[in-house]
Amino acid sequence: MKANIVVGVTGGIAAYKAVEVVSRLRKLGATVDVIMTRNATQFITPLTLETVSANPVTVDTFVRERSWEVGHVALAHKADLFVIAPATANLMAKMAHGIADDMLTTTLLATKAPVLLAPAMNTGMWTAPATQENLRTLLARGARVIGPGSGSLACGDVGEGRMSEPEEIVAEVERLLCAKRDLAGLRVLVTAGPTRERIDPVRYLSNDSSGKMGYAIAEAARDRGAEVTLISGPVALAAPQGVDVVPVETTMDLYRVMLERCPGQDIIIQAAAPADYRIETPSEQKLKKAGQKRTLTLVENPDVARAVAAQRAAGQVLVGFAAETQDTLANAREKLERKGLDMIVANDVTLEGAGFATDTNIATVITRSGETTYPLMSKRELAERILDSVRAYFRDDRGAE
Ligand code: CTP
Repeated sequence: MKANIVVGVTGGIAAYKAVEVVSRLRKLGATVDVIMTRNATQFITPLTLETVSANPVTVDTFVRERSWEVGHVALAHKADLFVIAPATANLMAKMAHGIADDMLTTTLLATKAPVLLAPAMNTGMWTAPATQENLRTLLARGARVIGPGSGSLACGDVGEGRMSEPEEIVAEVERLLCAKRDLAGLRVLVTAGPTRERIDPVRYLSNDSSGKMGYAIAEAARDRGAEVTLISGPVALAAPQGVDVVPVETTMDLYRVMLERCPGQDIIIQAAAPADYRIETPSEQKLKKAGQKRTLTLVENPDVARAVAAQRAAGQVLVGFAAETQDTLANAREKLERKGLDMIVANDVTLEGAGFATDTNIATVITRSGETTYPLMSKRELAERILDSVRAYFRDDRGAE
């Protein structure tokens, strides 16, 4: 692995495991620079990390013999990836708020490299609302987080807060650095966002879909080499570069575009939330206030996913979403069958950090042969996991490679 990795070590008992993380990264061929917080040096000596990394270890910005002004920027620029192991609650809080009061936080604030955090702390600190809010902020900004797992903690408690094992952290590093091009040559169509059903020229019926999940999938599929078409309802997101974006407004628009575009696709992922009903006769003029009651007659829209399944081309993989507020898994399984899908991504939109407007999500990917639940993660990270599942399905169940 030809990569420059900066490992940040903060002051927790798990700091000793950083030695193995650094050693394993070096064995893979990475160049490793270590930055320790002052507290980390209470748990493990810089000399140990200097020895395993074969590089000088930086402790803080006030070390006189190094030109730190250049130093923090140099490491911020040099890094292909930052790994913070262990990441304490304090480090996460500082990072979430842009505090830069030592070498590690200063470098983190200056870098554009991706950051992987391996949190380690007491269960109470991990579950504290402040830490969880900081976690959501960091995930929404694109930070990757691995763990923490459950187990017995140094403080004697048993619970969540144990740092992931060095081998798991290193495997995640490999996953992040070796960007996959496993969708090269495949055509992927993604739908995203809500639809709008006109009542009159200035009013409509719609829903809370933000389009973020579908856009994240389209971007991830593009980065993995797919030729991507994104059919998007009205959303407030920038059109991703390198993706063919087809705007639609109503469910009927979506229906027509899908029937036309789907036949040439290999993978179809329907993250849009099309309105199930439309106004029977939208008014051509703005409706005037009229009495105490007004009745709007709604007529059912076609089920786009079902229509797509009905004209499925040979070998096509169809993925749907199910945003639910109750009986999430049972409802999602029922939709998988009813809509003739191969895979459905179920969200309980009532959970904190999941659902429409957030940048994070919690989901279960269901196929006929099993299901996988993913914890809170950024929509981009979830998009990658969904594509991993789709890729595996495409290979295994279609016999294609
Ligand atoms: N969907 C669709 N056409 C519709 C409604 C939904 O293709 N008219 C798709 C969505 O894009 C999504 C999946 O079906 O992939 C599930 O959407 P959801 O709104 O949860 O399903 P509904 O069939 O509308 O079920 P519900 O009774 O819960 O509204």
